[in-house]
Amino acid sequence: MCARAAIPAEKRLAASPVPRTGKNLAAFRRALLRWYDRHRRDLPWRKTCDPYRIWLSEIMLQQTRVAAVLEHYRIFLERFPSVEALAAAPEDAVLTAWSGLGYYRRARMLRQCAQELVQNHGGRFPDRAEALRTLPGIGRYTAAAIASIVFEEPTAVVDGNVERVVQRLQGRDLTDQQIWQQAQSFLNTSRPGDFNQSMMELGATVCLPRDPKCPTCPVRKWCVTEQSRPSANRTITMERRASSPGGTLTPSSSRQVKKEIWCVLNQRDGYIRLVQRPRDSSLMPGMWELPQLSRKPHRTTPSAPWRTFRHSITRTDFTVHVHAGRAAAAKGKWIPVASIVGLPITGLTRKILKAAAII
Ligand code: ADE
Repeated sequence: MCARAAIPAEKRLAASPVPRTGKNLAAFRRALLRWYDRHRRDLPWRKTCDPYRIWLSEIMLQQTRVAAVLEHYRIFLERFPSVEALAAAPEDAVLTAWSGLGYYRRARMLRQCAQELVQNHGGRFPDRAEALRTLPGIGRYTAAAIASIVFEEPTAVVDGNVERVVQRLQGRDLTDQQIWQQAQSFLNTSRPGDFNQSMMELGATVCLPRDPKCPTCPVRKWCVTEQSRPSANRTITMERRASSPGGTLTPSSSRQVKKEIWCVLNQRDGYIRLVQRPRDSSLMPGMWELPQLSRKPHRTTPSAPWRTFRHSITRTDFTVHVHAGRAAAAKGKWIPVASIVGLPITGLTRKILKAAAII
């Protein structure tokens, strides 16, 4: 049952969207910040004002869950404790530390950005969003996050969570530009970094896509979607149709694609067969993985899979059958198992090698 069913219909307030000005807006901001001060998750990047650490966390958190980021964040900072250390590192070392987080372009841009900071900015981050946006890999979101969290610039951030919060508060579908404008008008300008994080935190922990925890929401009295819900059992999962940015909110649908692949775990005498992806591949260029078979193996190759894994990359859900044995031995190179730790391997390969107790 939808969590919001706990609110009796007669107790629902008349719809009252967040006002753009005045006392009511101040009350909205206060309610959200108070909630954030009490309930925010205890995360390592919330204990620092170091722009390098904040930047790293924001890049890692793009498209990646907090739980997956935590361990990588710690290890990455141990290996590259400063902009200078990152700028001086070979690309493969950075990719290795990134391995398992996916979207490897982020790691390459991170290193490029560090080099640019060292070469042209004395190793220091600019303190304005506009200047931050000129750096490699720093877009509107990341620039606003760093500028507001580290330098208290009153500029709003919009990520997927904020977008959902704003749409639901307003109870209608908005264009990207309208969402940024709304987020900016909500912003508490005396604590912009905390306010931005409170919006993101609300989306990540309360205003969830499928099962929003409306009864615990600190700003529900300003939420048009929550208050205009016609039926207790309806969920408020909504998604904007790509083709109609100005249209109505529509029930979400799965856009995941399913794919089945076969690969070979071929090891002997402390070596394992791995293939390097083309350097110009659009996906995970230059990273190492198990050799793949072009189709399901027949009886002459290893038949029953040793194990089957599920693995998702962006919108594709892979079913991965791993066969132990010699098939596809001609592909790839023999890599000493002991050197895998310093090699950029794909997240799927890491998962398989861990399951096989190879790493
Ligand atoms: N998602 C990305 N960055 C975040 C932050 N600083 N706080 C909460 N959620 C986030």
